[in-house]
Amino acid sequence: MQMSDLLAKKRDGGSLSTEEIQFMIRGYTRGEIPDYQMSAMCMAILLRGMDDRETLDMTLAMMHSGETIDLSPIRGVKADKHSTGGVGDKTSLILCPMVAAAGLKIAKMSGRGLGHTGGTIDKLESFPGFTAAVSEQQFFKNVNDIGIAIIGQTADLVPADKKLYALRDVTGTVPSIPLIVSSIMSKKLASGSDVIVLDVKCGDGAFMKTEQQAETLARGLTRVGRLAGRKCAAVITDMEQPLGYAVGNAVEVREALSVLRGEQKGELLELCLTLGGCMMAEAGVVWSMEEAKLELLKTIEDGSALKKLAEMVSAQGGDASAIYDPSLLPQAAVTLEVPSENAGYVRRIHAEQVGLISMHLGGGRVTKESEIDLSVGVVLAKKVGDAVRAGESLGTIYASSAEKAQQAAKMLRDCYELSDEPVSRRKLIRQIIR
Ligand code: URA
Repeated sequence: MQMSDLLAKKRDGGSLSTEEIQFMIRGYTRGEIPDYQMSAMCMAILLRGMDDRETLDMTLAMMHSGETIDLSPIRGVKADKHSTGGVGDKTSLILCPMVAAAGLKIAKMSGRGLGHTGGTIDKLESFPGFTAAVSEQQFFKNVNDIGIAIIGQTADLVPADKKLYALRDVTGTVPSIPLIVSSIMSKKLASGSDVIVLDVKCGDGAFMKTEQQAETLARGLTRVGRLAGRKCAAVITDMEQPLGYAVGNAVEVREALSVLRGEQKGELLELCLTLGGCMMAEAGVVWSMEEAKLELLKTIEDGSALKKLAEMVSAQGGDASAIYDPSLLPQAAVTLEVPSENAGYVRRIHAEQVGLISMHLGGGRVTKESEIDLSVGVVLAKKVGDAVRAGESLGTIYASSAEKAQQAAKMLRDCYELSDEPVSRRKLIRQIIR
């Protein structure tokens, strides 16, 4: 088999066979197929597409390029969630303890990642002593004993994706749906859960800018998941403004805790109930989404979700007292309220720019080696549709110095667009695909 023949076939709109896809991914992972040929293939796939069978073959070939996790030592139904990434996304911190308290098993491997804020693991490190470096054996034991563990990647999962994603990044081939589907699903399948729920975000602060693109991606992801024998659902959610109010690390943990304590209702809770409802319905442990949501709500009302988070944090070496006393979480040196210069109704909050404020303050990672400051970030006071009086707070900046706080305050004012006319609130949950 020759890569040049495969390239010509895809260039001319042909369909690659299972063997050809396996040859290509194996060869590229081992360094036998050079970057220039694989770049040409990514562009041919972007322009010509792949059908479901090819996308599934590509996903499975990538999944088998490295180790896969066998979760069979864990009793019960294992559920996982993936978000395509957005600003202020702290859903895992709320959803995972809720679902574990309701009886599913959460055996989650999470990344740190690059972005406006840290990933879930960084946020969890706001609890003094918490570690994500747990051995596989301890990971299985924790999930069996308490129902939940969120750890860093222990195995060498999907090395093909590490190489391919870096190549796509510099060859203009990231936005190909079959390439995105195989990249995301190879990692999710390799992580071993029975149920996978995907939060596909759309809008200014997301990877997919329109709802239509997000729907195409969500349908592709769920189709491949099901073809690979997993239970799969997707929720398409709005990212035209940050999710919830806090953007940062410890500030997001504080917001997640207030949802888990039952103090903050609204769209963030609703999203967690919907994602969790999909997990439970796909797991077959409830008759309907409505029943699942009621069960999940009970875990907030009776404190069992908060307790589940405390058990996980303790089992992973962290000081769980911060869960009941958030003043023990990392505190920023400077806090600054940002009053609005004008009155009106919030028409837009540029999500991407709010993310950049967190980045500017040191809450995100520019390179894999960057240290992040867990204490900094921004907490919005107003969301789209809210009325604002002149002088009223738009939000609070948490910074390491007065100078950084002042710069961030200006950035925050620039994120807000006000209108003289009342503005309707945005709908967070756009579609549920099951
Ligand atoms: N996220 C991924 O993991 N892969 C992609 O290709 C795009 C987003």
